[in-house]
Amino acid sequence: MNRYKNYKGKKVCFLIANIIIGTFLFAVRAQEVSKNSTPQLSEYNVIEVIASMTLEEKASIVIGGGRMVGEEFENGMIGEMDGIVPGAAGSINSIPHLGIPITILADGPTGVRIHPIRNNDSTKTYYGTSFPVPTMMASSWDVNLMQEVGTALGSEFKHYGVDVALAPAFNIIRNPLNGRNGEYYSEDPYLSGKLAASMVHGIQSTGVGATVKHFVANNQETNRRKVDAVISERALREIYLKTFRIAIKESNPWAVMTAYNKVNGVYTPESYDLNTKILREDWGYNGFVMTDWRAGKDIIAQLKAGNDLIEPGFEKQKAEVVEAVKSGELDEEILNQNVERILKGITKTLRFNGYKNDDNPDLEAHAKLCKRAAEESIVLLKNNTQTLPLQKGKKIALFGNTSYDTFINNNGSSDVSFAYNISIYEGLVNSGFTVHQELKAEYDTYIENDRIAFPAKNSFGKVRLRPEFIAPKELIEKCALETDVAIVSIGRNSGEAADRELEGDYKLTEAELSQLKNITNIFHQQGKKVIFLMNVGGVIETASWKDLPDAILMVWQPGQEGGNAIANVISGKVNPSGKLPVTFPVKYEDVASSKNFPGTPARRPKQVIHEEGIYVGYRYFNSFNVKPSYEFGYGLSYTNFEYSALKLSKSKFKDSIDLEFTITNIGEKAGREVAQLYLSTPSGKLDKPSEELRKFAKTRLLQPGEKQIVKFTLNKMDLASFDSQNSQWIAESGEYKVNIGASSMDFRLSEIFKVKKEIEVEKVNKVLEPLIEIEELTR
Ligand code: BGC
Repeated sequence: MNRYKNYKGKKVCFLIANIIIGTFLFAVRAQEVSKNSTPQLSEYNVIEVIASMTLEEKASIVIGGGRMVGEEFENGMIGEMDGIVPGAAGSINSIPHLGIPITILADGPTGVRIHPIRNNDSTKTYYGTSFPVPTMMASSWDVNLMQEVGTALGSEFKHYGVDVALAPAFNIIRNPLNGRNGEYYSEDPYLSGKLAASMVHGIQSTGVGATVKHFVANNQETNRRKVDAVISERALREIYLKTFRIAIKESNPWAVMTAYNKVNGVYTPESYDLNTKILREDWGYNGFVMTDWRAGKDIIAQLKAGNDLIEPGFEKQKAEVVEAVKSGELDEEILNQNVERILKGITKTLRFNGYKNDDNPDLEAHAKLCKRAAEESIVLLKNNTQTLPLQKGKKIALFGNTSYDTFINNNGSSDVSFAYNISIYEGLVNSGFTVHQELKAEYDTYIENDRIAFPAKNSFGKVRLRPEFIAPKELIEKCALETDVAIVSIGRNSGEAADRELEGDYKLTEAELSQLKNITNIFHQQGKKVIFLMNVGGVIETASWKDLPDAILMVWQPGQEGGNAIANVISGKVNPSGKLPVTFPVKYEDVASSKNFPGTPARRPKQVIHEEGIYVGYRYFNSFNVKPSYEFGYGLSYTNFEYSALKLSKSKFKDSIDLEFTITNIGEKAGREVAQLYLSTPSGKLDKPSEELRKFAKTRLLQPGEKQIVKFTLNKMDLASFDSQNSQWIAESGEYKVNIGASSMDFRLSEIFKVKKEIEVEKVNKVLEPLIEIEELTR
């Protein structure tokens, strides 16, 4: 039955009935119907509107209204929406006579990406707040903070007239070299999915739609537009899809963006399995799906797969859609469905509902939140003999290029046009520390000369890392005499469209290493301490140098207020409470995916076989007893926490189990702790990781001596693993061990419960089978 045509049929019956009632009534009704013959879109008449649309109009809804302003890599900004929101990434076309306004789409995950200056008029600016990179925010392990940041982000989109945010991005961090890792949250699907859900809740609470991306397995940038991610059904369900499943089910984002890559032989936007069978049938998703920008090959296949919107959209693609319907290649019913999902999304937008944006977001309030988000997310990795916090007024010798020119965000489409940013140097000065000026002057000159010699390019592709300034030995010695402590920043940046190199990026250069050694030796000889700051967007090698300094802070790429936040942690105004959302291996080769990254053939990989299967991140390190440099979930505090009194509501699981335990601050400073629950599940027919994160909670700020009871409920899905043979989630019978820990390797409490008989938790579609056999890792 054709719902869209049938609507017209019903309308005719309605008319006939009215004729019978009488001439007068007929006249009135007929008049109404003729008025309604060009219906105006409302949330109640989407089907009627579609019934009145021409084929060309339908095509103009599914093909985005973006306009390329040059090649992505040359220009940085694409899809400029002149006259409305310049610099926005894309749009959905308007059809004014049907009451359909334009819908504006803009990036991205750390802030609004639009042109900050318009028509060369600097009297009015359109800056966005540049929040910490997502991996950093994930280090907060704080769902409430994520929601607050989402709300602030949403409000900036709203004030600047953006209807749908192209955020959050939360592909799984499979390998440290993915250039885009900073844009993503974690190697663990549960942590990542929960944080993404909070971000979506926040954004959508403002009336702006969120887009979860990139669906799915966009785990690398090398040949990202063509590479085929070959992944087992189980690893897809338990790792790569799971993070989306959680976020989508818990937060119902307006839109999903498919990825550039293929999964098991099919481009993600062209995959019916992915966009219809999994997303709509298995998960019940009812929003619309859009492509990533210029993704895939065959737009008709994309529409048929359930990928409703093609972005950024080209004129010729509209004709292609019209032609495909006329030739019978594309059933108009399918096109109608695509249009219906998009129109339903449009009826929710602020613009559709008459909101007039004022270009005036509360940037001051958001800057404060940006600082707090960074403070809550800095991770203290090492702190021998209470090196940190540093007393105010201390004299600091500040080394490292990025102490003065701090990396605050990634490159690529998540780069934000911010009004200002606070470097580490500025933050320390703002906080009342004294910084050695002669040393600073040397760095300033070096950085300025380098800037002139290598002017900054656009923000896509390989990032040029400025070689580290090597301070002469005499200067280091002078600083060691004239200051109290050395702080040294190690800086790395990367982003969209290029993965990172092992040498000189993931690993420090020889010059960097020898400078770190020199500084440490010279300062230690003077009995002075040394603190390293890691100003990075992703995992780097740490094992070869982490013994050198007295303290290490992972400060990530901390957003525009980063310097102030870092200084507040250094001074002890803020007690660090972040924990790592990714594993730092001893050697790159210790990462299970290192054998298969970025795929084969090496230069332009056609396929990347995920042979590590479900053993991503700590699932591998823990299960195969490989000691990392810093484990997943790790992070110190200026205080200490005690875990006690774990109680389970029962010892035999039926539908759920409640549990609780107590965290006590047994140190001398107020602080927050992130408690983590790792479940060890019995291996029956399925191979299992030794433990997996199933719950986490961050305490409130606990004063010394203060306690907080943490409560969790484990349900069936929390126990389940994916049985590919039968395409279902099952909880196998046997003994389950609840481990409560301060990290994935620091368990403090444990208890056991039993499942008597295997539980069939959820049956799903048999889809996305790999086309080739994968030699998958098992224990
Ligand atoms: C990125 C997306 C982004 C889009 C629009 C693409 O290159 O992969 O994440 O939303 O551009 O700017």
